[in-house]
Amino acid sequence: MLSTERRRHLWNRIRYGMPERYGHLANEIIRNRFRTILEIGVWDGEHAQLMIGAALRNRPPDQVAYHGVDLFEAADEALLAREVSKPPPPMESVSQKLQRFRDLGVSINLYQGNTTELLPQLVPSLGVMDFMFIDGGHSYETVSSDWNSASRLMGSHSVVLFDDYVNPDAIAHGNYGVNMVVDRIDRSVYSVCHLRPTDLFEKEWGTLRIKLVKVTNRCHERPCHGGWLSWGRGCSRIRRSCPNR
Ligand SMILES: C[S@@+](CC[C@H](N)C(=O)[O-])C[C@H]1O[C@@H](n2cnc3c(N)ncnc32)[C@H](O)[C@@H]1O
Repeated sequence: MLSTERRRHLWNRIRYGMPERYGHLANEIIRNRFRTILEIGVWDGEHAQLMIGAALRNRPPDQVAYHGVDLFEAADEALLAREVSKPPPPMESVSQKLQRFRDLGVSINLYQGNTTELLPQLVPSLGVMDFMFIDGGHSYETVSSDWNSASRLMGSHSVVLFDDYVNPDAIAHGNYGVNMVVDRIDRSVYSVCHLRPTDLFEKEWGTLRIKLVKVTNRCHERPCHGGWLSWGRGCSRIRRSCPNR
């Protein structure tokens, strides 16, 4: 007998082509042949490995660059509670996990600090990022600041994925600011696309529902891809004109 979670993963595979939402990380990078990646909130580096591996499917190692920003050792309990965030491991352990990519020739760059202070300092030196994953602190102030930095690193082709767009019940029980930041993104400049599948987690207060949201410049418009059977669902309408071009 399959557990509820295994059944949901199977259904997601059939319907969306992936067991859970994180399948989009690799899909976007592979489909777009991306090579430069910024992850805001690295945690244990598992998804860093997934994203770098995806870039290596289409690119030689010396063309691939990964940048990851996290509090790492600078995390303290009060800050993590305010950010509704998991405690990160030490930066050195993540660095060791990613060493095999460095050995291949991939540019691996880890930065320690609060993204609200660190990212604005890094932006001028980073250059355009193909793919950015906003998954650090969850407070409105932090996500808003992270989006502000990420938007400055976007080229016409770049893709930004926000994690942790949650259901209203979750917002009532935690300091989740992603929804408000995403809902306020200027749709005349950016295309905003809610991706499926939605992942579910049982909490003491009820069900936490999380989805990814994809943001692109409107000049890089294609229907969102949440799996073949959900083609185009939940996307902003496609407009041909590009205000940024
Ligand atoms: C959900 S985890 C990231 C998960 C990772 N992206 C993944 O997919 O496996 C959130 C991370 O954000 C970091 N974080 C939270 N608030 C932060 C802040 N203000 N500045 C920098 N990092 C922050 C935490 O230390 C934690 O490692």
